[in-house]
Amino acid sequence: MELWSRRKFFLTSLAGSAIAGAGKLFGSTPSANSSSASALANPAAAAQGKRPLIISSANGLHALGKGMDILKQGGDTLEAVVVAVTIVEDDPNDDSVGYGGLPNEEGVVELDASVMHGPTYRAGSVAAVRNIKNVSRLAKTVMEKTNHVMIVGDGARRFGVDEGFEEINLLTDHSRKIWLAWKASTSFNWRPGIDSPEWKQRVSEIFNGDAAQIAYAERVIAHPPTGTIPCMAVDAKGDISATTTTSGLAWKIPGRVGDSPIIGAGCCVDNEVGAAGSTGKGEENIKISGGRIIVEMMRQGKSPTDACLEAMGRVAKHYKNDKTKLGTFHLYFYAINKDGVHGAASLWRNGYEENKQASYAVHDGTESRLVPCTPYFDAAGGDQ
Ligand code: GLY
Repeated sequence: MELWSRRKFFLTSLAGSAIAGAGKLFGSTPSANSSSASALANPAAAAQGKRPLIISSANGLHALGKGMDILKQGGDTLEAVVVAVTIVEDDPNDDSVGYGGLPNEEGVVELDASVMHGPTYRAGSVAAVRNIKNVSRLAKTVMEKTNHVMIVGDGARRFGVDEGFEEINLLTDHSRKIWLAWKASTSFNWRPGIDSPEWKQRVSEIFNGDAAQIAYAERVIAHPPTGTIPCMAVDAKGDISATTTTSGLAWKIPGRVGDSPIIGAGCCVDNEVGAAGSTGKGEENIKISGGRIIVEMMRQGKSPTDACLEAMGRVAKHYKNDKTKLGTFHLYFYAINKDGVHGAASLWRNGYEENKQASYAVHDGTESRLVPCTPYFDAAGGDQ
C-alpha cells in the first residue's frame, strides 16, 4: 500500500509544476453546491453504509488498518481512531501533525487535538501544546482523567507530563530547515524576498541544493499549510467516536489555535447521528461551527456528503461566493453517519497535491482506499 504523506505529495509533484494562483480560479464554475448534484457526483455518498467503518483525511490512508483491527475485535471506537492518528503523529515525514510538524513563527511546534466519545457523550481537547507528540492521546486523557473539556498551552504540557507523557523536541531537522528558509524570507527590510537571487542562494545552502526540498520549501512558504488529520469511526453496534489532531497553521503567531481542538468545529460526534471533522483553514470552520452544522444536517436526513456541502456553502455565503476571496484558502469537511455511510467535501476540486482531485481515506473492513471529495467549486483553487 502506498505510504501517503503531504510532504511526499509535494516532493513528487512540485518539482515541475507552477504554484497554483488565484488567477486559476477565474472562469471556474460552481458545480456541486446543490444536494442533488452532489449525490450524483459522489457515488460513495449514495451508497449503502457499512459497519464497522473508519475514515480520515488522505494522510491517514496507511494508518486506518490499525484502527479497523480494533473495531473488528470489538474494541472502543475512540481507541480505534486515536490509535490510527497516533501513527501519523509519530511519523517525522508527515509535517502536518505531531512530531516533525511545521512550527510557529518562532520555530516552535505547537499542537492542537480533540476527541469525542459518542457512547458516553464525553469530549477532551488540548491546544497550543509544546513538546508532547501524541496530543490526540493527551486529549483523550483530559476526557478520561479530569472533569474539564479543554486544557491549553503550558497547562496542557504540564498535565501531560504529570500523566506520564514523554517530553521531546518536536522539530525535526527537516522542519527546522524549512523554518529557517521561511525566516530568511520574512523580514523584507533586511532580508531578501522569496523571489530574489539572495533568498534562492540562502535556501540552496540550507538544503544543499536539493531541488525537490527547495521546491517544497517554496510551496509551504508561499502558501502556509494547515494540514491535519481528522479520523472518525462507527463500530458494528453503531457507536461512534472521532478525533482531530494537527500542528496547525505553519508560521502562525505563537498561541494561535485552529479549529481542530474546538469541539463542534474541527470535531463533532453525536452517537444518535454521526460524526464530522475538518482540515484546511480552521478560522473559516470556527466561524460557522462546521462540525455541529454537519451533524445537525445529517440528523435532518442529509447524507454525509450533502451535509458537508451545506457547511461549505455557509462559508462561501459569508464571502458572497466571491471566488477571488475564497481562493485564498482551502477547506475540507469529512463525515460519517450511524449507518456507516461516509462523505467529504472540498472547497476546491484540487487537494494539497497540485492538479489532483482532493480525496480522503476510507476503510470499511477490506482495505484502506482513497475516495474523491465532492468539490463545492469544480475548479482548481485554494492558496492555503
Ligand atoms: N484545520 C487546522 C487548523 O487550521 O489549524
